[in-house]
Amino acid sequence: MRKPIIAGNWKMNKTIAESLEFAKAIESASISQNVDAVICAPFLSLQPLVDALKNTSVKIGAQNMHFEESGAFTGEVSASMLKEIGVEYVIIGHSERRQYFAETDETVNKKTIKALSADLTPIVCVGESLEERESDKTNAILEVQVKNGLQNISAGDIAKVVIAYEPIWAIGTGKTATSEQANEACAFIRSVLAELFGKEASEQVRIQYGGSVKPSNIKEIMEQSDIDGALVGGASLLSEDYLQLVNY
Ligand code: PGA
Repeated sequence: MRKPIIAGNWKMNKTIAESLEFAKAIESASISQNVDAVICAPFLSLQPLVDALKNTSVKIGAQNMHFEESGAFTGEVSASMLKEIGVEYVIIGHSERRQYFAETDETVNKKTIKALSADLTPIVCVGESLEERESDKTNAILEVQVKNGLQNISAGDIAKVVIAYEPIWAIGTGKTATSEQANEACAFIRSVLAELFGKEASEQVRIQYGGSVKPSNIKEIMEQSDIDGALVGGASLLSEDYLQLVNY
């Protein structure tokens, strides 16, 4: 059985004070033990959130990291720096990073390998653009992103990776993929994983859907056979919505 994982991706939102306000609002709320609940926050809020939520089941994730251990990489943060403060997850290759910060499948691959070696759980994002979907290239794009992004990872390690299928056209647009479209893409990703790592290993990998997930549609999305969670942007910013999402 794959344990569902619901992760908020706050993107570049919330100061430390605002993050702590959010933590206060959820710290004594009940959170389903049947899901892994995660919040991926801006770097500055990570340590305050780890501390504020240490008595809850909510885990904290970063939204990016560098693949090198240390060195002359101005402005970057390493896996061991995240690990040191109690961060457990890291989003890798989000489409906004691919689009605005020149992230490629190659850097995604290096970062995923580094995250695994530092014992962080990588949430590796893949997804097609609207143009790619409309020209029937969705599967081809996903196959390349999965194969290149997960090179040189062992079948033993793949179960530790979370994949987020996020069609770019559904992110922040209010336009959700239908649950059938989302499930079809996640099933396809799983078939690529089976080809790479074997069927048994592929059955263990958790695949999230992301793109305009909200309290009103999460249940239907989570009912799909190949969808094991959600990566949620906008709707994860309000504590009431976040609680509804993790307790879907
Ligand atoms: P959204 O973002 O939920 O606001 O569409 C999802 C994401 O980018 O992870």
